[in-house]
Amino acid sequence: MNKPVILVVGARPNFMKIAPIHAELSRRGINQILLHTGQHYDENMSKVFFDDLEMPKPDIYLGIGSGSHVVQTAKVMMEFENVCIENQPSMVVVVGDVNSTVACSLVCAKQLIPCAHVEAGLRSFDREMPEEINRLVTDAIADFLLTPSQDGDQNLLNEGVDPSRIIRVGNVMIDSLFNSLEKSKSSMIHSDLDIEKETYALLTIHRPSNVDDRDAFGKIIDALEEISSRIRLVFPIHPRTKARAIEFDFFERLNSIPNLILTEPLGYLDFVALIAASKIVLTDSGGLQEETTALGIPCVTLRENTERPITVTEGTNTIVGNSTEAILQSVHGILENGGKAGRVPELWDGNTAGRIADIIESVIEED
Ligand code: UD1
Repeated sequence: MNKPVILVVGARPNFMKIAPIHAELSRRGINQILLHTGQHYDENMSKVFFDDLEMPKPDIYLGIGSGSHVVQTAKVMMEFENVCIENQPSMVVVVGDVNSTVACSLVCAKQLIPCAHVEAGLRSFDREMPEEINRLVTDAIADFLLTPSQDGDQNLLNEGVDPSRIIRVGNVMIDSLFNSLEKSKSSMIHSDLDIEKETYALLTIHRPSNVDDRDAFGKIIDALEEISSRIRLVFPIHPRTKARAIEFDFFERLNSIPNLILTEPLGYLDFVALIAASKIVLTDSGGLQEETTALGIPCVTLRENTERPITVTEGTNTIVGNSTEAILQSVHGILENGGKAGRVPELWDGNTAGRIADIIESVIEED
């Protein structure tokens, strides 16, 4: 048996990026190990995604769990080093920008294991975001930088990266989205939540800059109270957001907004069903900015910047920050005029996993 390729997942936004790559490597009969660091561990932040994305149970589970960023990153590194010593991978694939991504890429750099970073080159230019540090470090040390769009290539070139390390493959998360659209039609989420399709706005927030600061979080809730007088809001609440809402005494306030439906985090198929039938998405997530662009749904991003500018220049995304007035102005505009039209960026075509698998095959054949 050839040496294995290790595919790393850790947190919720990783699962939909690895699933299509794992399926494609399986189809090609490539020896692979699916490794879950356990950064996210709740049933509804992790396991349900394996079921919905038809991914097998991870071959290796590190069980890292929550902790400070340093503790989480260091624990993943220590455990992943042992895995690499034991399994001698021919290559490691990391995705996205979470702590597990940077931790495993660091181990590869120290052990001289070829590492591919999927979703390379994205930059918010905001070093207060933990993800920005993860992106910068991972891209500095990974061998193959697989970018989703031209802006990613350009950011890397501007940082002096050798062009031979940069390969534009497209957006692999869109593979999962397109693969799941049909299946998501059998989701019962609309009847479970007792909402009509095309009549609501979908909301997600979890970034520290929005929910760890009482003032910022409060201003967002002010906006939600007013928006809810015009359109129903559906809010699957991230564990971090729920914990802060309770800590800041906001939870009851959120719960008592009459036109706002608060739910636990949802599985992938239910969530795709909700996005696809929403009138507007309000979010601070990176992935949702891309999914709404791919589906042509207006997206209002509650951040000061985005590492995914193509969703603004080509897609349906508008960056508004987190002031009450800016959020309201944008949402009212969309309700009145329908929002930006946008188009789907090049190579966001549902075939990115195939292009990634071609690269993986060429690397391991040389080994
Ligand atoms: C992480 C990623 C972020 C991504 C987000 C998606 C980093 C730096 N951040 O942020 O980029 O957008 O995931 O969700 O890697 N918790 C649970 N159950 C879980 C996981 C977390 O209750 O299964 C709670 C814990 O209290 C934990 C908190 O959520 O302390 C935050 O989790 P953590 O993994 O540290 O970061 P996220 O905010 O989820």
